Amino acid sequence: MCGIVGYIGNKEAGKVLLDGIKRLEYRGYDSSGIACIENGTLRYEKAIGEVVELEHKLNTNPIIANMGIVHTRWATHGAPTVENAHPHMDCRCEIAVVHNGIIENYDYLTSYLEKRGHIFKSQTDTEVLAHLIEENLTNNLEEAVMSAVKMIEGTYGIAVISTKDPGKIVAARKGSPLIIGIGDNEYFITSDVSATLEHTRNVIYLDDLEVAIITPDNYETKTIENITSLKKIEEVLWNMDMIEKSGFQHFMLKEIHEQPQALQNLMRGRVDGGKAPIKLGGLSHCEKDLLAVKRIVVIACGTSWHAGLVGEYMLEELARIPVEVEYASEFRYRNPIIEKDTLVMAISQSGETADTLAAMREAKNKGAKVLAICNVVGSSIAREADAGIYLHIGPEIGVASTKAFTAQVAAFYLFALHILLLRHKTDPKVPEMITAINSIPGKIQKILDREEEIREMADAYKDKNHALYLGRGFNYPVALEGALKLKEISYIHAQGYPAAEMKHGPIALIDENMPVIVIATKDATYGKILNNIEEVKSRKGRVIAIATEGDEQIQGKADHVVYIPDAPAVLTPLLSVIPLQLLAYHMAVMRGCNVDKPRNLAKSVTVE
Ligand code: F6R
Repeated sequence: MCGIVGYIGNKEAGKVLLDGIKRLEYRGYDSSGIACIENGTLRYEKAIGEVVELEHKLNTNPIIANMGIVHTRWATHGAPTVENAHPHMDCRCEIAVVHNGIIENYDYLTSYLEKRGHIFKSQTDTEVLAHLIEENLTNNLEEAVMSAVKMIEGTYGIAVISTKDPGKIVAARKGSPLIIGIGDNEYFITSDVSATLEHTRNVIYLDDLEVAIITPDNYETKTIENITSLKKIEEVLWNMDMIEKSGFQHFMLKEIHEQPQALQNLMRGRVDGGKAPIKLGGLSHCEKDLLAVKRIVVIACGTSWHAGLVGEYMLEELARIPVEVEYASEFRYRNPIIEKDTLVMAISQSGETADTLAAMREAKNKGAKVLAICNVVGSSIAREADAGIYLHIGPEIGVASTKAFTAQVAAFYLFALHILLLRHKTDPKVPEMITAINSIPGKIQKILDREEEIREMADAYKDKNHALYLGRGFNYPVALEGALKLKEISYIHAQGYPAAEMKHGPIALIDENMPVIVIATKDATYGKILNNIEEVKSRKGRVIAIATEGDEQIQGKADHVVYIPDAPAVLTPLLSVIPLQLLAYHMAVMRGCNVDKPRNLAKSVTVE
């Protein structure tokens, strides 16, 4: 949410910064802005809309500098206008600040600063930072930044430059990720490694309450108390191919198609040779704790929360441990009960979601051990968890999460088998269960090969204004996920429901204009689901069924059938979600929506 890049080195800063910030556009795309020191004076440019608007401005008046900072915004305080776009400057236009996060006491700070003669030009919370730094700046920028951030309540990832202490960028973090990229005689500051992969894979992750000072030939990290901190340089394992569209029209489509490979990557080395035990290296130091667990609480948001619901069904079915799944945003504010043997699992693709991070900290404060399922290595949630499972599926750039969902579900499955084996040493069912998950990537590919069929179906329903998604058991969370995918990228109102609940209310909505997408795979509740389909049909609803290959009976009942390969019920979510992702994608494209940048959304929600 919002993206930051800073550059200092011997290249043309304008180009490096623009290229970098374009990679972060998925973090926010309502406005952007750049600042640099050009011939000793501070120059800035801002534009509303996508980064290309800023690029147009710079094409007519290029930046001549070797250092600068740039930002792409997802508005929190203040509408997306030029005045509210970052960078924000002090009164004399000697300091420029870009910021991710929220300054909660900005009202108080604004009136304090106004009384001291500062004049504000925007409606943002960020602008107070520029004025606070101005108050504290004589000629040492990092000291002024340290003093300023100590007055702030809230979260920040900032990069600052000033003509009063030129030749350096100062960055600071609390609650919003910041990374230093270490190149060859050049340094970067970024909120996301994708921005600097082209130049370097060597990075340092700043911790909360740390400051980085980068100059053309060095970098330094300190705490905000001005004490030097020594940081490890880490190597990012992602490469450039992973952050390109590679011939696909959208990142979302690429990521849908990457799912067979993503799941293979997730399983590699963990279920080798189809044999037990399951090797989950990130859990090896906490096996005693896992043996003692009596209850699991899963915390997550959005799609990750849906994956958590599938995880609940899996863990209860396979490992027989009671599980509750909570929205992270609810968990953190309701004084939850955490007993000695409660394990908390934080699920997050980005590892930076503010609500999940805060809920996890709340759980830790209450004495819980926290295990994270995360994709982004080095992210805040991954680093603060006591143990974890990385997804290893490469970056997810499409704002609508797809491959992270299937990978999180698969990670839950491996985790459930791991617990089962820890507790019972052997279980005759396990080899079969491992064979079953190993066959999933091939089965997903079979569904992807039917994309054209799903595209044609999308064409038939693209003009509808509402949709209902129904599923039972393991596929109830998939119904929720299918509905979320459709609404967030196509703006069609969609709702997911447990199929049997339909008759307790939503059935009132059904008429010939209501498409009802029903996951009707052959499992224990198949007969019941057929009854639900009849209920929809007798009210003239249109039914799209996701059914198991070979099921002919359903042909006579549904208007459209999409077949998926047979699999054990516990694994069907990994298959049934694929047609729903494709359906949402194609309906959105046909409606002319920008699926990679849906309105009002941004990837990685780092504000509450
Ligand atoms: C939906 C979507 C969001 C995220 C949610 C949590 O397609 O992407 O609902 O799932 O914001 O994000 P992470 O998993 O990064 O914590």
